[in-house]
Formats: sequence, C-alpha cells, structure tokens
Amino acid sequence: MSARAVASAPGKVILFGEHFVVYGVPAVVAAIELRARATACAREDRLVRVVAPDLGFSCLFGPEGFEVERGGGEAEEALRPIFVAVDGVRRALGRGEGLELHVNSSIPIAAGLGSSAAVAVSASAATCALLGRGLDKELVFKAAFEAEKLVHVSPSGVDPAISTHGGIITYKRGVGIQKLEIGAPLELVVGDTGLKRSTGALVSAVRALRDRRPELFGRLLSAAEELVSEAVEALKKGDILAVGELMNVNHGLLSAIGVSNLALERLVHAARTAGALGAKLTGAGGGGCMVALVEEGRGRGVAEAIEAAGGRAFVARIAEEGVRIEG
Ligand code: PMV
Repeated sequence: MSARAVASAPGKVILFGEHFVVYGVPAVVAAIELRARATACAREDRLVRVVAPDLGFSCLFGPEGFEVERGGGEAEEALRPIFVAVDGVRRALGRGEGLELHVNSSIPIAAGLGSSAAVAVSASAATCALLGRGLDKELVFKAAFEAEKLVHVSPSGVDPAISTHGGIITYKRGVGIQKLEIGAPLELVVGDTGLKRSTGALVSAVRALRDRRPELFGRLLSAAEELVSEAVEALKKGDILAVGELMNVNHGLLSAIGVSNLALERLVHAARTAGALGAKLTGAGGGGCMVALVEEGRGRGVAEAIEAAGGRAFVARIAEEGVRIEG
C-alpha cells in the first residue's frame, strides 16, 4: 500500500432526460471542468476519518459507530456517503485498513451539477489507488453509486457514471453508458439560481405525480424517449440548431412534471432572449442550475444576460477526462 493517493473527478450538466432517466429513459450528459478532489492516506488503525476542510466538517467512522469531530449532524450527513464509498472499495478489495480522506470541491453544492457524486467518485478512486488497485473505473462507479443511494431517493446512477467516465455520454439505468461522438463542439453556459434544493425530494414529488396519473406520465415518458433519441441523432450530426430546439422541448417536459420554478424560468428565458439556441433547467430542478446552448463565441453575452436576470453564470468547458489519479 502506498502512503498517499490523490484523485479528482468532474461535475456534470444533464443535457437531456433528467428525471425520466429514473424510469429507464436514456439521459444525455456532459462532464464539465469543475472538479472534486480527494486525498487518501494510510492510518495505523482500522478507522476512516473523512474531512471536508472547506466546509469545516470532520467525522471518524469505525466498526462501532461514528464520532463527529467538527460540524455536528450536518457533518455526519455530508460525510457518511463518502465513508460508504471508501468502505465499498475496501470491502470489494477484501481490505480493512484505516484511512484518512480529505475532500474538497469547486462544484457548487446542491445545484444540480453532480457535486456529491464527484466527491464520492474521487474518494473511491483515491482509495482504490491507495490500496494498490490503480484506477478500477467499474469499482469506482459501483462504490460511488452506493454512496449516492444514501444521498438521493432511488438515484438512476447518471451522476456517478458521468463523473467516472467524463466526456459526453448517454446513460440508461441498469444498462450503463455509451460515449457519444458529437459532430460539432458545444458551447454551453450554466446559470445558477443560487437556490439549494434536495434532489431526493424532487425525485419523490415526480414519483408521486406518476402514481397519481400513471397513464399521463407514461405518455410523457414516451415523449421523453422520442426526444432523447432525436437529440442523440442531432448531436451526432452536429446539428446544433436542432439540439437547441430539443433542449427547449425538454425544458417544457420538465415544467410539465412540476420541477421548474420562477427562478429557473427567469434564467431560461433570459438566455433565450439573449440569443441562446436552447435553454433548459438541468438536474433535479426546483432551483439549482439551468444550461443554455449558444453559437460559438456567444457564451459571454448569454452569461451576462443570465447574471442580469439574477443568476450566477459561467461558460462551461466539457471535461473530456472523467475520474483521474493525480500526480
Ligand atoms: O444530482 P442532480 O440534482 O443533477 O439530479 C440527478 C438527476 C435526476 O434525474 C433528477 C435524478 C437521478 O437520479 O437521475
């Protein structure tokens, strides 16, 4: 076992298919160059200490339970999934030695950009590398997915999948990922409403709608399936006008299932008015972020329009590389 290993993993924007992906529709998702980073070090005992210095959280996990060292109940809630990821890797490798895990992230939290998954993926990868397994992406994905199950209700697995593999992919629950070769570069602008929200609560609300109106929901699922398949064709051809139009349609479907709100609508419409080819909420909705597709070179202008409408915006670079071992 080496003494120290460092790994990083990207955040993401969902371009098509969020929520519907929970019910088996494929999602199209792009990794973006905002990364979480984890450093794993060996310990003499069998305990796992997880520390998030930027949040002021620290917890010690052991076979007899856990001890919050800094940050109270919030710390336990935030750090337990990371322990689950680390422990998943340990168990899979038949190892029991203790570890120190330090995590930090430049991905906004609870904004729909996949921060919890990126942290879990980087922590799993750093543990893998520390325990001498190198970068086993299948194991990293599995361990991070277990961690995500603590964070969200019935997650589809799309977030740990894109953070593990990077680039632009399609992801289908229970089937896996496919890398997507796109025919033209995509210039994307992300706008953050600044409203934090719970993915689990939104996924539950959508499930309740499905249970109340199964037939109608089934039709929306079929529409989403058709939309995603057209979007994949448009992306492959590099037909960005069609991609933008389909993003607008996707936003309409997400509004139909009740996950948009006024803050998101403001930013989506500001982006479209400023000339975006398409704009939609991204991730679970209810706050968090939206994403706009723009013609090359138009990102700055659309970002300014989003900021004028009350959001925080940036031009996102696609992260071709998923999780990686650093140094
Ligand atoms: O992590 P978020 O907020 O980007 O949401 C993930 C996407 C959902 O489809 C809403 C949930 C899931 O598990 O796929």
